[in-house]
This record gives sequence, C-alpha cells and structure tokens, in this order.
Amino acid sequence: MSKVDLSVKIGPLKLRNPVMLASGTVGYGNEISEFCDLNKLGGIVTKSLSLKPRKGNPPQRIVETPAGMLNAIGLANVGVEEFIKEKIPFLKKYDVPLICNIAASTIEEYVECIKILTNEETIKAFEINVSCPNVREGGLQFGNNIKAVGKVTEKVRAATDKPLIIKLSPNVSYIAEFAEIVKKEGGDAVSAINTLVGTAFNIFTKKPKIYNVNAGLSGPAIKPVALAKVLEISRNVHIPIIGIGGIMNWKDVIEFMIAGASAIQIGTLNFIDPAASEKIVKEIEDYCIQTGIDKISELTASYLIDK
Ligand SMILES: Cc1cc2nc3c(=O)[nH]c(=O)nc-3n(C[C@H](O)[C@H](O)[C@H](O)COP(=O)(O)O)c2cc1C
Repeated sequence: MSKVDLSVKIGPLKLRNPVMLASGTVGYGNEISEFCDLNKLGGIVTKSLSLKPRKGNPPQRIVETPAGMLNAIGLANVGVEEFIKEKIPFLKKYDVPLICNIAASTIEEYVECIKILTNEETIKAFEINVSCPNVREGGLQFGNNIKAVGKVTEKVRAATDKPLIIKLSPNVSYIAEFAEIVKKEGGDAVSAINTLVGTAFNIFTKKPKIYNVNAGLSGPAIKPVALAKVLEISRNVHIPIIGIGGIMNWKDVIEFMIAGASAIQIGTLNFIDPAASEKIVKEIEDYCIQTGIDKISELTASYLIDK
C-alpha cells in the first residue's frame, strides 16, 4: 500500500494520479497497452476525434528536430461512430479514466460530436482541441480567437454534463485571457499546451520538409514555454490546469505541478519510451516519500502559495 496520496482532482474529475497520456501520441490506447499498464495511469486521452473519419495530410507528416519533433498529421482519425463501435470495447476493459479529445471545423460539428458521445459511460470527460482550422471563418483557427473559444466552450458545455476541458493553443500573446473565457463559459479545466507552430526546410531541394509546410513542434524544446504558459494561467485565473509540453521525466512532472498544474499529460515521450508513463508514476511517488509529501495535490501551484 502506498503511503502517499497521489490522487488529484481536475474540477469534478478525480484521477488516481496526475499522469495522463496526451492526445495523438497513443492513438486509442491499443498499441501502448503492450508496453504500459494503462490501469496504473491517471488517465488516457484519445487522438482528436472528428464527426467523420479523416485521412489526415499526405506524407511527410513528421520530422525530427534537435530537441523534439514537428508533426502535421492533419487530425487523421476514425471518426466518432467508428470510435464507439471499434475502439471503446477495447478501452472498456481498463479501469482508467478515458478522456475523449474532440476536433471540429465548426461549432456545430463540436456539438454534434459531443451529443453522439456524451451518453457513453466509458467516457469520463471531454477535452476540446480548439487548435484546428475554422473552415467557416476562412481558415482562422478557433484557438487564436478569444470569442470563438468562448463560443465553443458555451455550446459544448450546454451539450454535456461530463467534465469539460478546453485544450489551449500556445500560439497566442496572452494565454490567461483564453483560460478566463473558458472559466466564464463553464469549462471545468484547461490543458496547456498544444504544439507550437514550426517548420523546416530541406536546403538542397529548397522545399519544406513537411508536406503541409507548417507543423506543430513538441518535445523537450517546448517545455520552458509550456511551463511559462501554465504559470501565466495559474497566476491569473482560478481554474484547474493540465500541464502538457516536453515532459520527459518525473522531475518535469513535479516542475509543472509547482508552476500550477493539477495533472499533466505525456506526449512525445511515448514515441521514445512507451513504458515511461508507468515508471514516472512510481518515481513521483518516491519523490513524495523522500520529501515528506503526503498528498501530491499539495504541490499544485506551490510556487505561488509559498511566495
Ligand atoms: C504526433 C502528434 C500528434 C498529435 N495529435 C494531437 C491531436 O490529435 N489532438 C491534440 O489535441 N493534440 C495532439 N498533439 C499534441 C499533444 O497532445 C501535446 O499537446 C503536444 O505534443 C505537447 O506535448 P509533448 O511535448 O509532451 O509532446 C499531437 C502531438 C504529436 C507529437
């Protein structure tokens, strides 16, 4: 029996520990379950699901960078109907909170997806990916537009009683303003951050290395940016934060919690070591024992509380 209470709360969502798997880095959980005991984790977030299946972008979709990776997968996914039929039965076998990440091109599409999924008992919360193109408004991203993020939160909130997390884009000047509108419109929590916009060129062909040209940068390179965004939100807005971005080991998890995160998600690291998350749970417990922490949730925003 563990002496340390590793459980955390993200609004109404209770997790046995703060370590979750980030959207898009573990598909729907099947492959990673061979390396990592999902029942030991705090939660698992699905690849972004859209109303209809999406093939995503043509290759090249991934490029390695000095301290991370660029990806422009283009939200390839099976769609909500197929997810219910083919993916939920597998996930039902596990006793780990399943968080469904949703992506859409219009507000109506977000709402439609939620309505289809909200009665599925296995789904414990929704995470809304607002960093995708808003086709109706001429290719702008919802994630860069405060009003649009407010509207998505309001409409999705009205469509579900399940815990609602809005995943924020870091490609904005003041992320706290976005967290504020999420809180105002009834969101239970925010996740920060999604990937940073980046690109890369082949110097011989003089062409972009990624078919889509722009891509999302993730991995250790973005950790300081992600930490600063989490800190900015926690300093300014009273809302639970899920910290994401460049977490490579247990120390990074602790750092995110000190800065204000109630829980965290692990993304790029899953490609390097798919067993890492389970190990990290054990290591954060060891840290708590060594430093005399009885409840890990007390670490959240301790930098601000202790100041
Ligand atoms: C290959 C890949 C695919 C991703 N797909 C999604 C996605 O479908 N939806 C989403 O909200 N985030 C997606 N992300 C972003 C991650 O969930 C995470 O926010 C980001 O990678 C930063 O964390 P990390 O540095 O630990 O990877 C993806 C990231 C990667 C690397």
